[in-house]
Amino acid sequence: MIRFHILTLFPEAFQGPFDVSILNRAREQGLVEVHLYNTRDFTHDRHHTVDDYPFGGGGGMLMKPEPLFEAVEAVREGILQGGKVGEVSEVPTILLSPQGELFCQAMAERWAQEKDLILVCGRYEGVDERVRQHLATEEVSIGDYVLGGGELPAMVLVETIARLVPGVLGSAESLEEESHAAGLLEYPQYTRPREFQGWEVPEVLLSGDHQRVARWRREQALLRTWQRRPDLLARAQLTAEDREFLAQALASQEPPEGEGAVHA
Ligand code: ADE
Repeated sequence: MIRFHILTLFPEAFQGPFDVSILNRAREQGLVEVHLYNTRDFTHDRHHTVDDYPFGGGGGMLMKPEPLFEAVEAVREGILQGGKVGEVSEVPTILLSPQGELFCQAMAERWAQEKDLILVCGRYEGVDERVRQHLATEEVSIGDYVLGGGELPAMVLVETIARLVPGVLGSAESLEEESHAAGLLEYPQYTRPREFQGWEVPEVLLSGDHQRVARWRREQALLRTWQRRPDLLARAQLTAEDREFLAQALASQEPPEGEGAVHA
């Protein structure tokens, strides 16, 4: 079971995406809890101010530190009362921002082991630097582009992490397959009909020969990764057989053509 605590100025933005499909089922089964907190509720002035002008001038508004600190502290307090042992500052407190470390599957795997995660969504032009330095324990970006706030990135993290929590995915193989292919792009997949508008399913997939199918899939995953994401290939865990196959493909420069071959 994992609990996500999300601090946001727009809690209502999370309603739709978390109420469908895997996440909804996981929540119903009690495997995932999502707690939303409106950062504005942690202000004390008449106007519930959450942003202010930057010192030194310049355009845009920044999120003030006080409401964010107060909100995170309240959440940590709540987690402690829920019986967590140890230091509350150990609860990963993830600030979503375009300046963060690029989110990846390995981070999701690490965080899926936690009982509680705090996600802090920024808005406006950014957050006061002290939030980054003294409140967040991690800072994460979902990609090299700038969104209007951390809400969509938080949803991306929740979905990626939640599906790794034991029991959340329907079939155990789904994750097993994935970890076997760790770091590679997926092989091509087909379902019925066998022939669609003249395009046929590769013969090997209809052969019933499990070994041949497994080898074909592995090779396709290797080729696809080599062609589209050579950066991933450099970090993937490859067997001697994989290396041999790639060396041959590379030697012929052009990856072997044929059914299911990938075109760049
Ligand atoms: N906030 C705005 N843009 C973002 C991004 N790319 N990743 C995470 N948080 C963000």
